Amino acid sequence: ALLAGHPRDLAGRHVVVTAGGTREYLDPVRFLGNRSSGLQGVALAETALARGASVTLVAANLSVPAPAGVELVEVVSTEDLRQATLKHAASADAVVMAAAPADFRPTSFADAKIKKRPDGQAPTIELVENPDVLVEVVQQRGATASPVVVGFAAETGDANGSVLDHARAKLARKGCDLLVVNDVSEGKVFGRADSEAVILAADGSAHPVALGHKSLLAHAIWAEVATRLT
Ligand code: CTP
Ligand code: CA
Repeated sequence: ALLAGHPRDLAGRHVVVTAGGTREYLDPVRFLGNRSSGLQGVALAETALARGASVTLVAANLSVPAPAGVELVEVVSTEDLRQATLKHAASADAVVMAAAPADFRPTSFADAKIKKRPDGQAPTIELVENPDVLVEVVQQRGATASPVVVGFAAETGDANGSVLDHARAKLARKGCDLLVVNDVSEGKVFGRADSEAVILAADGSAHPVALGHKSLLAHAIWAEVATRLT
């Protein structure tokens, strides 16, 4: 599904891509997770290789195979993803955060399987917020313009604003260079080969990408990244 004749504008560059959805375990058999398949992250990794980059793929519980030729770093939880991403981002030219990290984790992990109680009383699961890896990647690069940092946002419009309103606010809050916005109001995107998105830039520009294969969106993202490399 790769484009023929794509530019080799990432030759000699090292990029980090995060993919999939993190899991936060409650006990040895149960976890809190999300619907991210890893398809978009895998498409980003494949297309970066095709454009000449060396690629580190930080892979969280992918439901699709990782492409050959990447440096594969497998992670489970948001904390694992945080450590791997910060480590590899330190020497990267670009970091694209396509993974869906769990926002919350259980405050404690039960070493033994949680059993049903004879009185029928259901347990209450207390949660604590996870660190924001994207914000930490932006903080780690400090005042330099490298690496170029790209976030993703799956948004729905609501009473407080449209999909793009929420996305603009998120881009400003996170401090990244680009934010790829998907409208997920009808369960679109998850586990599908196709996606439609808008690539918002911190400079105020917006680049719509029509519905098409996730590798086409990936190429559009790399094209925007390539113009911002230092
Ligand atoms: N992200 C991250 N660490 C987290 C949560 C999100 O690095 N703990 C990254 C995602 O990989 C994505 C971007 O931040 O690239 C936006 O994720 P999103 O879930 O939309 O942002 P949140 O700040 O968690 O906002 P929301 O409350 O809308 O979920
Ligand atoms: Ca989130």
